[in-house]
Amino acid sequence: MVATASAQAGEQGWSSRTAFILAAVGAAVGLGNIWRFPTLAGENGGGAFVLVYLVCVLLIGLPLMLSEFVVGRAGQSDAIGSVQRVADESRVSRRWSIFGGIEILAGFLILSFYSVVAGWVLYYIWLSGGDFFGNLFAGEALRGAFSDLGQDAVSGMMGDLFASPGRLILVHALFMTATIAIVASGVHDGIEKAATWLMPAFFFLLLGITIYGAFTGDFGRAVTFMFTPDFSKLTAPVMNEALGQAFFSLSLASGALITYGAYVARDVNLAPTAATISLADTAVALIAGLMIFPIVFAVGLDPSVGPALIFQSLPVAFQTMPGGSLIGLLFFVLIFFAALTSSISLLEGPTAWAIDRFGLRRPAAAVMLGLGAFVIGIACALGYNVWADVRPLGFWDIFADADILDTIDGFTGKLMLPLAGLLMSIFVGWKADRRLVEVQTGLSGGLFVLWRFLVAWLCPIAVALILLFGLFPQLLG
Ligand code: TRP
Repeated sequence: MVATASAQAGEQGWSSRTAFILAAVGAAVGLGNIWRFPTLAGENGGGAFVLVYLVCVLLIGLPLMLSEFVVGRAGQSDAIGSVQRVADESRVSRRWSIFGGIEILAGFLILSFYSVVAGWVLYYIWLSGGDFFGNLFAGEALRGAFSDLGQDAVSGMMGDLFASPGRLILVHALFMTATIAIVASGVHDGIEKAATWLMPAFFFLLLGITIYGAFTGDFGRAVTFMFTPDFSKLTAPVMNEALGQAFFSLSLASGALITYGAYVARDVNLAPTAATISLADTAVALIAGLMIFPIVFAVGLDPSVGPALIFQSLPVAFQTMPGGSLIGLLFFVLIFFAALTSSISLLEGPTAWAIDRFGLRRPAAAVMLGLGAFVIGIACALGYNVWADVRPLGFWDIFADADILDTIDGFTGKLMLPLAGLLMSIFVGWKADRRLVEVQTGLSGGLFVLWRFLVAWLCPIAVALILLFGLFPQLLG
Protein backbone atom coordinates (compact mmCIF):
# COMPACT_ATOMS: atom_id res chain seq x y z
CA MET A 1 0.00 0.00 0.00
CA VAL A 2 1.14 3.50 -0.80
CA ALA A 3 1.89 5.70 2.16
CA THR A 4 -0.75 8.39 1.76
CA ALA A 5 -0.33 11.85 3.17
CA SER A 6 -3.10 11.08 5.58
CA ALA A 7 -1.54 7.83 6.67
CA GLN A 8 1.75 9.60 7.25
CA ALA A 9 -0.03 12.18 9.33
CA GLY A 10 -1.99 9.47 11.08
CA GLU A 11 1.19 8.28 12.73
CA GLN A 12 1.09 11.50 14.66
CA GLY A 13 -2.49 12.56 14.03
CA TRP A 14 -3.93 15.21 16.28
CA SER A 15 -2.77 14.50 19.79
CA SER A 16 -6.20 15.18 21.28
CA ARG A 17 -9.64 16.49 20.52
CA THR A 18 -8.60 19.87 21.88
CA ALA A 19 -5.60 19.94 19.59
CA PHE A 20 -7.81 19.15 16.63
CA ILE A 21 -10.29 21.88 17.57
CA LEU A 22 -7.51 24.41 18.01
CA ALA A 23 -5.95 23.54 14.70
CA ALA A 24 -9.30 23.73 12.94
CA VAL A 25 -10.11 27.02 14.66
CA GLY A 26 -6.65 28.18 13.65
CA ALA A 27 -7.49 27.33 10.05
CA ALA A 28 -10.89 28.95 10.26
CA VAL A 29 -9.87 32.15 12.03
CA GLY A 30 -7.74 34.27 9.80
CA LEU A 31 -7.91 37.08 7.32
CA GLY A 32 -11.42 35.92 6.51
CA ASN A 33 -12.60 37.19 9.88
CA ILE A 34 -10.46 40.26 10.36
CA TRP A 35 -10.09 41.46 6.79
CA ARG A 36 -12.64 39.89 4.44
CA PHE A 37 -15.69 39.98 6.70
CA PRO A 38 -15.50 43.72 7.54
CA THR A 39 -14.59 44.51 3.94
CA LEU A 40 -17.61 42.71 2.52
CA ALA A 41 -19.98 43.88 5.25
CA GLY A 42 -18.82 47.43 4.51
CA GLU A 43 -19.24 47.06 0.76
CA ASN A 44 -22.64 45.44 1.02
CA GLY A 45 -24.36 47.83 3.37
CA GLY A 46 -23.87 46.13 6.73
CA GLY A 47 -26.88 44.66 8.53
CA ALA A 48 -28.58 42.76 5.72
CA PHE A 49 -25.28 41.17 4.72
CA VAL A 50 -24.45 40.25 8.31
CA LEU A 51 -27.87 38.71 8.83
CA VAL A 52 -27.66 36.53 5.73
CA TYR A 53 -24.12 35.61 6.69
CA LEU A 54 -25.22 34.39 10.12
CA VAL A 55 -28.12 32.40 8.67
CA CYS A 56 -25.77 30.83 6.12
CA VAL A 57 -23.27 29.84 8.80
CA LEU A 58 -25.93 28.20 10.92
CA LEU A 59 -28.08 26.45 8.34
CA ILE A 60 -25.58 25.73 5.56
CA GLY A 61 -22.03 26.16 6.85
CA LEU A 62 -22.32 24.15 10.03
CA PRO A 63 -24.08 21.12 8.46
CA LEU A 64 -21.58 21.13 5.60
CA MET A 65 -18.60 21.39 7.93
CA LEU A 66 -19.80 18.22 9.61
CA SER A 67 -20.24 16.64 6.17
CA GLU A 68 -16.63 17.39 5.27
CA PHE A 69 -15.32 15.88 8.49
CA VAL A 70 -17.51 12.84 7.93
CA VAL A 71 -16.23 12.30 4.40
CA GLY A 72 -12.64 12.76 5.54
CA ARG A 73 -12.83 10.37 8.44
CA ALA A 74 -14.73 7.78 6.45
CA GLY A 75 -12.42 8.13 3.44
CA GLN A 76 -9.07 8.46 5.26
CA SER A 77 -7.39 10.33 2.43
CA ASP A 78 -7.13 13.74 0.73
CA ALA A 79 -10.13 15.69 -0.58
CA ILE A 80 -10.41 13.65 -3.80
CA GLY A 81 -9.27 10.26 -2.49
CA SER A 82 -11.64 10.39 0.48
CA VAL A 83 -14.66 11.03 -1.71
CA GLN A 84 -13.64 8.22 -4.04
CA ARG A 85 -13.39 5.78 -1.19
CA VAL A 86 -16.73 6.79 0.27
CA ALA A 87 -18.21 6.51 -3.24
CA ASP A 88 -16.77 3.01 -3.62
CA GLU A 89 -18.14 1.89 -0.30
CA SER A 90 -21.51 3.38 -1.18
CA ARG A 91 -21.45 1.82 -4.69
CA VAL A 92 -21.90 5.09 -6.53
CA SER A 93 -19.80 6.66 -9.24
CA ARG A 94 -16.34 7.89 -8.36
CA ARG A 95 -17.08 10.94 -10.49
CA TRP A 96 -18.56 12.54 -7.39
CA SER A 97 -15.01 13.27 -6.37
CA ILE A 98 -15.18 16.18 -8.83
CA PHE A 99 -16.23 18.36 -5.92
CA GLY A 100 -13.07 17.34 -4.10
CA GLY A 101 -11.17 18.52 -7.18
CA ILE A 102 -12.96 21.87 -7.19
CA GLU A 103 -12.13 22.17 -3.49
CA ILE A 104 -8.43 21.59 -4.00
CA LEU A 105 -8.26 24.04 -6.87
CA ALA A 106 -10.19 26.62 -4.84
CA GLY A 107 -7.82 26.20 -1.89
CA PHE A 108 -4.87 26.73 -4.20
CA LEU A 109 -6.36 29.88 -5.73
CA ILE A 110 -7.37 31.28 -2.34
CA LEU A 111 -3.82 30.76 -1.11
CA SER A 112 -2.50 32.87 -3.98
CA PHE A 113 -4.27 36.07 -2.95
CA TYR A 114 -4.34 35.22 0.74
CA SER A 115 -0.58 35.44 0.81
CA VAL A 116 -0.67 38.84 -0.88
CA VAL A 117 -3.00 40.24 1.77
CA ALA A 118 -1.00 38.59 4.54
CA GLY A 119 1.97 40.40 3.01
CA TRP A 120 0.22 43.70 3.71
CA VAL A 121 0.02 42.60 7.34
CA LEU A 122 3.76 41.97 7.31
CA TYR A 123 4.31 45.44 5.90
CA TYR A 124 2.30 46.90 8.76
CA ILE A 125 4.34 44.91 11.25
CA TRP A 126 7.38 46.52 9.71
CA LEU A 127 5.87 50.01 9.86
CA SER A 128 4.53 49.73 13.39
CA GLY A 129 7.65 47.93 14.56
CA GLY A 130 9.81 50.80 13.31
CA ASP A 131 7.50 53.27 14.98
CA PHE A 132 7.45 51.40 18.28
CA PHE A 133 11.19 50.92 18.54
CA GLY A 134 11.71 54.51 17.49
CA ASN A 135 9.50 55.63 20.36
CA LEU A 136 11.18 53.21 22.71
CA PHE A 137 14.64 54.58 22.02
CA ALA A 138 13.27 58.08 22.39
CA GLY A 139 12.15 57.04 25.86
CA GLU A 140 8.48 57.28 25.00
CA ALA A 141 7.48 53.68 24.71
CA LEU A 142 3.87 54.36 25.54
CA ARG A 143 3.13 56.86 22.82
CA GLY A 144 0.37 56.30 20.30
CA ALA A 145 1.36 54.93 16.93
CA PHE A 146 2.58 57.34 14.26
CA SER A 147 1.68 60.18 16.57
CA ASP A 148 3.56 62.78 14.56
CA LEU A 149 1.52 62.00 11.46
CA GLY A 150 -1.96 63.26 10.69
CA GLN A 151 -4.92 60.94 10.31
CA ASP A 152 -4.96 61.27 6.55
CA ALA A 153 -1.30 60.39 6.32
CA VAL A 154 -1.88 57.29 8.42
CA SER A 155 -4.84 56.05 6.44
CA GLY A 156 -2.88 56.91 3.30
CA MET A 157 0.03 54.57 4.13
CA MET A 158 -1.79 51.82 2.31
CA GLY A 159 -1.65 53.84 -0.90
CA ASP A 160 2.17 53.95 -0.80
CA LEU A 161 2.30 50.21 -0.46
CA PHE A 162 -0.15 49.61 -3.30
CA ALA A 163 1.83 51.86 -5.58
CA SER A 164 4.98 49.79 -5.17
CA PRO A 165 5.10 46.43 -7.00
CA GLY A 166 8.48 45.67 -5.45
CA ARG A 167 7.31 46.03 -1.87
CA LEU A 168 4.08 44.15 -2.50
CA ILE A 169 5.89 41.24 -4.08
CA LEU A 170 8.59 41.19 -1.41
CA VAL A 171 6.17 40.87 1.50
CA HIS A 172 4.10 38.35 -0.45
CA ALA A 173 7.26 36.31 -1.04
CA LEU A 174 8.17 36.40 2.64
CA PHE A 175 4.79 35.18 3.72
CA MET A 176 4.65 32.42 1.12
CA THR A 177 8.13 31.26 2.08
CA ALA A 178 7.05 30.87 5.70
CA THR A 179 3.96 28.94 4.64
CA ILE A 180 5.90 26.59 2.38
CA ALA A 181 8.61 26.02 4.97
CA ILE A 182 6.13 24.90 7.62
CA VAL A 183 4.09 22.66 5.33
CA ALA A 184 7.25 21.14 3.85
CA SER A 185 8.53 20.12 7.25
CA GLY A 186 5.32 18.39 8.24
CA VAL A 187 2.54 20.36 9.75
CA HIS A 188 1.22 18.80 12.82
CA ASP A 189 3.47 19.68 15.67
CA GLY A 190 4.01 23.13 14.29
CA ILE A 191 0.39 23.97 13.68
CA GLU A 192 -0.78 22.46 16.90
CA LYS A 193 1.71 24.35 19.01
CA ALA A 194 1.23 27.63 17.21
CA ALA A 195 -2.53 27.37 17.45
CA THR A 196 -2.50 26.44 21.12
CA TRP A 197 -0.57 29.52 22.13
CA LEU A 198 -1.40 32.10 19.58
CA MET A 199 -5.12 31.77 19.14
CA PRO A 200 -5.94 32.60 22.79
CA ALA A 201 -3.51 35.53 22.77
CA PHE A 202 -5.08 36.76 19.58
CA PHE A 203 -8.55 36.51 21.04
CA PHE A 204 -7.67 38.55 24.13
CA LEU A 205 -6.02 41.31 22.18
CA LEU A 206 -8.97 41.43 19.82
CA LEU A 207 -11.36 41.83 22.73
CA GLY A 208 -9.17 44.44 24.37
CA ILE A 209 -8.91 46.59 21.26
CA THR A 210 -12.63 46.24 20.68
CA ILE A 211 -13.41 47.47 24.17
CA TYR A 212 -11.02 50.37 23.71
CA GLY A 213 -12.65 51.17 20.38
CA ALA A 214 -16.08 50.99 21.98
CA PHE A 215 -15.16 53.86 24.27
CA THR A 216 -13.27 56.01 21.83
CA GLY A 217 -15.01 55.27 18.53
CA ASP A 218 -18.56 55.58 17.29
CA PHE A 219 -19.76 52.29 18.73
CA GLY A 220 -23.45 53.04 18.47
CA ARG A 221 -23.28 53.76 14.80
CA ALA A 222 -21.24 50.63 14.23
CA VAL A 223 -23.81 48.48 16.00
CA THR A 224 -26.61 50.05 13.98
CA PHE A 225 -24.64 49.53 10.80
CA MET A 226 -23.92 45.90 11.51
CA PHE A 227 -27.18 44.78 13.06
CA THR A 228 -29.95 46.82 11.51
CA PRO A 229 -30.77 45.08 8.27
CA ASP A 230 -31.91 47.33 5.48
CA PHE A 231 -33.78 44.81 3.42
CA SER A 232 -33.73 46.99 0.33
CA LYS A 233 -30.00 46.17 0.20
CA LEU A 234 -30.70 42.45 0.20
CA THR A 235 -30.17 41.60 -3.45
CA ALA A 236 -29.28 38.19 -4.83
CA PRO A 237 -25.62 39.16 -5.35
CA VAL A 238 -25.41 40.31 -1.72
CA MET A 239 -26.80 36.96 -0.58
CA ASN A 240 -24.32 35.19 -2.81
CA GLU A 241 -21.50 37.22 -1.32
CA ALA A 242 -22.66 36.38 2.22
CA LEU A 243 -22.94 32.68 1.40
CA GLY A 244 -19.45 32.71 -0.09
CA GLN A 245 -18.09 34.49 2.97
CA ALA A 246 -19.64 31.84 5.24
CA PHE A 247 -17.82 29.16 3.23
CA PHE A 248 -14.59 31.13 3.13
CA SER A 249 -14.51 31.96 6.80
CA LEU A 250 -15.32 28.43 7.94
CA SER A 251 -12.66 27.12 5.52
CA LEU A 252 -15.32 25.03 3.83
CA ALA A 253 -15.06 23.52 0.39
CA SER A 254 -11.41 24.36 -0.04
CA GLY A 255 -9.77 21.01 0.52
CA ALA A 256 -8.73 21.46 4.13
CA LEU A 257 -11.52 20.07 6.27
CA ILE A 258 -11.84 16.74 4.48
CA THR A 259 -8.09 16.36 4.82
CA TYR A 260 -8.25 17.29 8.51
CA GLY A 261 -11.18 14.94 9.07
CA ALA A 262 -8.94 12.09 7.97
CA TYR A 263 -6.50 12.93 10.75
CA VAL A 264 -9.10 12.83 13.55
CA ALA A 265 -9.26 9.89 15.94
CA ARG A 266 -12.30 7.62 15.73
CA ASP A 267 -13.52 8.42 19.20
CA VAL A 268 -13.84 12.16 18.65
CA ASN A 269 -17.46 13.19 18.32
CA LEU A 270 -17.51 15.27 15.16
CA ALA A 271 -20.82 17.12 15.53
CA PRO A 272 -20.06 19.14 18.68
CA THR A 273 -16.59 19.74 17.31
CA ALA A 274 -17.99 21.31 14.15
CA ALA A 275 -20.35 23.41 16.27
CA THR A 276 -17.53 24.68 18.46
CA ILE A 277 -15.39 25.64 15.48
CA SER A 278 -18.23 27.47 13.74
CA LEU A 279 -19.16 29.33 16.88
CA ALA A 280 -15.60 30.46 17.59
CA ASP A 281 -15.11 31.56 14.00
CA THR A 282 -18.33 33.53 13.92
CA ALA A 283 -17.63 35.19 17.25
CA VAL A 284 -14.25 36.40 16.00
CA ALA A 285 -15.79 37.82 12.82
CA LEU A 286 -18.45 39.73 14.72
CA ILE A 287 -15.97 41.07 17.25
CA ALA A 288 -13.69 42.13 14.41
CA GLY A 289 -16.59 44.06 12.90
CA LEU A 290 -17.28 45.71 16.25
CA MET A 291 -13.61 46.58 16.50
CA ILE A 292 -13.28 48.11 13.05
CA PHE A 293 -16.53 49.92 12.28
CA PRO A 294 -16.55 52.23 15.35
CA ILE A 295 -13.19 53.55 14.15
CA VAL A 296 -14.31 53.73 10.54
CA PHE A 297 -17.26 55.91 11.49
CA ALA A 298 -15.45 57.96 14.10
CA VAL A 299 -12.83 59.11 11.62
CA GLY A 300 -15.22 59.43 8.71
CA LEU A 301 -13.83 56.68 6.51
CA ASP A 302 -16.05 55.18 3.84
CA PRO A 303 -17.01 51.62 4.94
CA SER A 304 -17.25 50.51 1.32
CA VAL A 305 -13.67 51.25 0.24
CA GLY A 306 -12.88 47.57 -0.23
CA PRO A 307 -9.76 45.58 0.69
CA ALA A 308 -7.84 48.53 2.15
CA LEU A 309 -10.51 49.13 4.83
CA ILE A 310 -8.89 47.57 7.89
CA PHE A 311 -5.44 48.83 6.98
CA GLN A 312 -6.78 52.36 6.84
CA SER A 313 -8.90 52.27 9.96
CA LEU A 314 -6.90 50.29 12.50
CA PRO A 315 -3.71 52.37 12.46
CA VAL A 316 -5.88 55.40 13.12
CA ALA A 317 -7.17 53.75 16.30
CA PHE A 318 -3.64 52.94 17.37
CA GLN A 319 -2.70 56.59 16.90
CA THR A 320 -4.81 57.84 19.77
CA MET A 321 -4.51 54.80 21.96
CA PRO A 322 -2.16 55.06 24.93
CA GLY A 323 0.63 52.63 24.15
CA GLY A 324 -0.81 52.44 20.64
CA SER A 325 2.50 51.88 18.94
CA LEU A 326 3.06 48.74 21.00
CA ILE A 327 -0.52 47.48 20.77
CA GLY A 328 -0.57 48.10 17.05
CA LEU A 329 2.60 46.12 16.61
CA LEU A 330 1.30 43.25 18.73
CA PHE A 331 -1.98 43.24 16.93
CA PHE A 332 -0.49 42.99 13.46
CA VAL A 333 1.82 40.26 14.70
CA LEU A 334 -1.16 38.28 15.90
CA ILE A 335 -3.08 38.81 12.65
CA PHE A 336 0.03 37.51 10.96
CA PHE A 337 -0.07 34.34 13.05
CA ALA A 338 -3.80 33.93 12.49
CA ALA A 339 -3.14 34.23 8.76
CA LEU A 340 -0.25 31.79 8.94
CA THR A 341 -2.25 29.07 10.72
CA SER A 342 -4.78 29.46 7.89
CA SER A 343 -2.38 29.61 4.97
CA ILE A 344 -0.63 26.47 6.15
CA SER A 345 -3.94 24.63 5.98
CA LEU A 346 -4.65 26.15 2.60
CA LEU A 347 -1.43 24.72 1.25
CA GLU A 348 -1.85 21.45 3.13
CA GLY A 349 -5.00 20.45 1.19
CA PRO A 350 -3.42 20.56 -2.29
CA THR A 351 -0.14 19.21 -0.90
CA ALA A 352 -1.78 16.16 0.66
CA TRP A 353 -3.46 15.49 -2.68
CA ALA A 354 -0.22 15.81 -4.67
CA ILE A 355 1.54 13.44 -2.28
CA ASP A 356 -1.23 10.85 -2.51
CA ARG A 357 -1.80 11.22 -6.23
CA PHE A 358 1.72 11.47 -7.60
CA GLY A 359 3.70 9.91 -4.80
CA LEU A 360 5.67 13.12 -4.41
CA ARG A 361 7.67 13.75 -1.31
CA ARG A 362 6.11 16.29 1.01
CA PRO A 363 8.73 19.05 0.56
CA ALA A 364 8.64 18.74 -3.22
CA ALA A 365 4.86 18.92 -3.31
CA ALA A 366 4.70 21.88 -0.93
CA VAL A 367 7.36 23.85 -2.81
CA MET A 368 5.83 23.29 -6.24
CA LEU A 369 2.30 24.17 -5.23
CA GLY A 370 3.44 27.09 -3.07
CA LEU A 371 5.46 28.51 -5.94
CA GLY A 372 2.50 28.15 -8.28
CA ALA A 373 0.29 30.09 -5.89
CA PHE A 374 3.07 32.64 -5.46
CA VAL A 375 3.15 33.36 -9.18
CA ILE A 376 -0.61 33.90 -9.34
CA GLY A 377 -0.28 36.14 -6.29
CA ILE A 378 2.24 38.30 -8.15
CA ALA A 379 -0.42 39.01 -10.74
CA CYS A 380 -2.76 40.06 -7.92
CA ALA A 381 -0.12 42.44 -6.55
CA LEU A 382 0.52 43.96 -9.97
CA GLY A 383 -3.21 44.50 -10.27
CA TYR A 384 -2.84 47.43 -7.87
CA ASN A 385 -0.32 49.28 -9.97
CA VAL A 386 1.08 48.17 -13.34
CA TRP A 387 -2.03 46.21 -14.26
CA ALA A 388 -4.49 48.47 -12.47
CA ASP A 389 -6.76 48.57 -15.50
CA VAL A 390 -6.95 44.83 -15.99
CA ARG A 391 -10.40 43.36 -15.36
CA PRO A 392 -9.95 39.61 -15.96
CA LEU A 393 -13.67 38.83 -16.06
CA GLY A 394 -14.77 42.28 -17.16
CA PHE A 395 -17.32 40.83 -19.60
CA TRP A 396 -19.36 39.39 -16.71
CA ASP A 397 -21.38 42.11 -15.04
CA ILE A 398 -20.87 40.93 -11.44
CA PHE A 399 -17.09 40.98 -11.99
CA ALA A 400 -17.03 44.04 -14.22
CA ASP A 401 -15.26 46.30 -11.68
CA ALA A 402 -13.05 43.64 -10.13
CA ASP A 403 -9.26 43.98 -10.35
CA ILE A 404 -7.12 40.84 -10.44
CA LEU A 405 -7.17 40.08 -6.71
CA ASP A 406 -10.88 40.82 -6.41
CA THR A 407 -11.61 38.62 -9.40
CA ILE A 408 -9.82 35.57 -8.02
CA ASP A 409 -11.29 36.25 -4.59
CA GLY A 410 -14.79 36.70 -6.02
CA PHE A 411 -14.61 33.77 -8.42
CA THR A 412 -13.53 31.35 -5.70
CA GLY A 413 -15.85 32.78 -3.03
CA LYS A 414 -18.97 33.41 -5.03
CA LEU A 415 -18.72 30.50 -7.40
CA MET A 416 -16.27 27.69 -6.64
CA LEU A 417 -16.87 27.27 -2.92
CA PRO A 418 -20.68 27.25 -3.10
CA LEU A 419 -20.58 24.99 -6.16
CA ALA A 420 -18.38 22.43 -4.42
CA GLY A 421 -20.63 22.72 -1.36
CA LEU A 422 -23.70 22.11 -3.49
CA LEU A 423 -22.24 18.94 -4.99
CA MET A 424 -21.02 17.78 -1.60
CA SER A 425 -24.45 18.20 -0.05
CA ILE A 426 -26.02 16.08 -2.79
CA PHE A 427 -23.31 13.48 -2.37
CA VAL A 428 -23.53 13.27 1.40
CA GLY A 429 -27.29 13.75 1.55
CA TRP A 430 -28.30 11.37 -1.24
CA LYS A 431 -25.49 9.26 -2.59
CA ALA A 432 -23.29 8.19 0.28
CA ASP A 433 -24.32 5.13 2.24
CA ARG A 434 -26.57 6.31 5.04
CA ARG A 435 -25.23 3.98 7.72
CA LEU A 436 -21.63 4.81 6.87
CA VAL A 437 -22.41 8.49 7.28
CA GLU A 438 -24.53 8.16 10.39
CA VAL A 439 -21.84 6.33 12.34
CA GLN A 440 -19.32 9.07 11.59
CA THR A 441 -21.52 12.00 12.59
CA GLY A 442 -22.03 10.74 16.10
CA LEU A 443 -25.54 12.17 15.88
CA SER A 444 -28.60 10.13 16.65
CA GLY A 445 -32.35 10.51 16.77
CA GLY A 446 -33.85 13.88 16.00
CA LEU A 447 -30.54 15.67 15.61
CA PHE A 448 -29.43 13.26 12.92
CA VAL A 449 -32.74 13.69 11.11
CA LEU A 450 -32.39 17.45 11.32
CA TRP A 451 -28.81 17.41 10.05
CA ARG A 452 -29.75 15.10 7.22
CA PHE A 453 -32.65 17.30 6.25
CA LEU A 454 -30.39 20.35 6.14
CA VAL A 455 -27.75 18.56 4.08
CA ALA A 456 -30.09 16.72 1.72
CA TRP A 457 -32.74 19.38 1.17
CA LEU A 458 -32.03 22.83 2.47
CA CYS A 459 -28.37 23.11 1.40
CA PRO A 460 -28.75 21.97 -2.20
CA ILE A 461 -31.88 24.00 -2.84
CA ALA A 462 -30.75 27.18 -1.09
CA VAL A 463 -27.24 27.09 -2.52
CA ALA A 464 -28.50 26.36 -6.03
CA LEU A 465 -30.94 29.26 -5.91
CA ILE A 466 -28.43 31.69 -4.44
CA LEU A 467 -25.86 30.70 -7.04
CA LEU A 468 -28.28 30.98 -9.91
CA PHE A 469 -29.66 34.40 -9.03
CA GLY A 470 -26.47 35.70 -7.46
CA LEU A 471 -24.37 34.99 -10.51
CA PHE A 472 -27.07 35.94 -13.01
CA PRO A 473 -29.06 38.69 -11.29
CA GLN A 474 -30.62 39.67 -14.63
CA LEU A 475 -32.78 36.53 -14.36
CA LEU A 476 -34.77 38.35 -11.70
CA GLY A 477 -35.42 41.14 -14.16
N1 TRP B 1 -10.97 30.44 6.79
C1 TRP B 1 -9.79 31.15 6.43
C2 TRP B 1 -9.93 32.57 6.94
O1 TRP B 1 -10.97 32.96 7.37
C3 TRP B 1 -9.55 31.15 4.95
C4 TRP B 1 -9.68 29.82 4.32
C5 TRP B 1 -10.52 29.46 3.34
C6 TRP B 1 -8.96 28.66 4.64
N2 TRP B 1 -10.38 28.17 3.01
C7 TRP B 1 -9.44 27.64 3.81
C8 TRP B 1 -7.98 28.40 5.58
C9 TRP B 1 -8.92 26.36 3.90
C10 TRP B 1 -7.50 27.14 5.67
C11 TRP B 1 -7.95 26.12 4.84
O2 TRP B 1 -9.01 33.32 6.90
